[in-house]
Amino acid sequence: MEKGKGPTVKIINVCGARPNFMKIAPLMRAYRRHKNLQPLIIHTGQHYDEKMSDLFFRQLEIPEPDMNLGVGSSSHAVQTAEIMMRFEPVVLEQQPDWVVVVGDVNSTIACALVAKKIGVKVAHVEAGLRSFDRTMPEEINRLLTDAISDLLLVSEPSGLENLKREGIADEKIHFVGNVMIDTLKANLEKAERSNILNELDLEPGNYNVVTLHRPSNVDDTESLSRIAEAFEAIQADLPIIFPMHPRTYKNLSKLGLSERFDNMKHLHILEPVGYLDFLKLMSKAAVVLTDSGGIQEETTILGVWCLTLRENTERPITISEGTNTLVGNDSEKIVSAYRRCRSRSVDDPPIPEKWDGRAADRIAELLVNECY
Ligand code: UD1
Ligand code: UDP
Repeated sequence: MEKGKGPTVKIINVCGARPNFMKIAPLMRAYRRHKNLQPLIIHTGQHYDEKMSDLFFRQLEIPEPDMNLGVGSSSHAVQTAEIMMRFEPVVLEQQPDWVVVVGDVNSTIACALVAKKIGVKVAHVEAGLRSFDRTMPEEINRLLTDAISDLLLVSEPSGLENLKREGIADEKIHFVGNVMIDTLKANLEKAERSNILNELDLEPGNYNVVTLHRPSNVDDTESLSRIAEAFEAIQADLPIIFPMHPRTYKNLSKLGLSERFDNMKHLHILEPVGYLDFLKLMSKAAVVLTDSGGIQEETTILGVWCLTLRENTERPITISEGTNTLVGNDSEKIVSAYRRCRSRSVDDPPIPEKWDGRAADRIAELLVNECY
């Protein structure tokens, strides 16, 4: 389809939680190249703190959401149901051609389900990823969203295999690459100018970065204590910078672990930081220790060691072609993997296929073409 030709294609783009914002930013840019696309942004309000939401709209130059559903935090059932109830009238009023959902958060499945039942086509960005761990809420969200989506936009080859095995029709599946990496590439130069290392008095290569927010790590005293034990050893080698997710911050005091973390002289807890500062922090770190999904991918492209404090990953390419290692939350395992990283440098930064900064362009093209 030639750009600018044909009737308008209306697309509702859903976002709700921090990792969604990096994924919709490049889509909004790519849509602008098609005159016949009319994109809307609906923010569910799953994340709402300034440093978990608005900051990313400014830094990534995402247009203001057309509507914020303001759902806030609650249990899985209540949050998912609230999103559905508040999203349904929006879809009915707007009558879009597509609802685009990204990633694997509660906002993803809730909005996909609403759209599909009204008869609006659903496109899932980051389809096909599987951890094969159904105790993870995100795995349930991924499986269900993919089962009902009309267009499955895949970021790495494992996604193609997984969807095929699950019996999804070939014609719905497209290997487009990774929108998270579109955002990384678009912002690397800007991030280079961040002053965060000076502000925190850090030398490139002489500190580690940590993020944690998975319930399996941070909702359980024993797991978080094992992780604390590992951090006690690691911060004695190099300082740890720990921009802390609000879930983790609340749990530290709830689980009685605040003092233990405060007592680590070289572990520095910060509020969550903006994308540009975080990218700068990651890019110059010795080792990144995390349970985040997106950070496994970003460290692979940055050529920085990543230790993932989980037993599994839905992003296996970051292990086979990248810098990632799964270490779970056993303290000895974490520390010995950390020492291995410290003893050698990463070779050439590997680049998985189609992680080239153009995934969103491919997606925009498909959304237009599938409507004619
Ligand atoms: C959610 C996603 C997870 C994703 C993560 C990214 C689901 C099931 N989980 O997990 O897949 O990796 O976001 O960060 O969708 N809170 C605040 N302020 C905020 C947001 C949250 O204080 O702006 C606190 C609240 O106490 C809330 C808790 O964090 O109860 C958890 O928030 P929630 O969105 O339910 O899950 P996350 O752990 O953030
Ligand atoms: N991130 C950030 N500031 C932080 C921590 C993370 O900008 O303090 C970015 C990170 O670079 C990545 C995204 O947030 O782009 C990952 O989000 P998160 O870990 O919350 O979610 P997940 O990827 O696990 O779903």
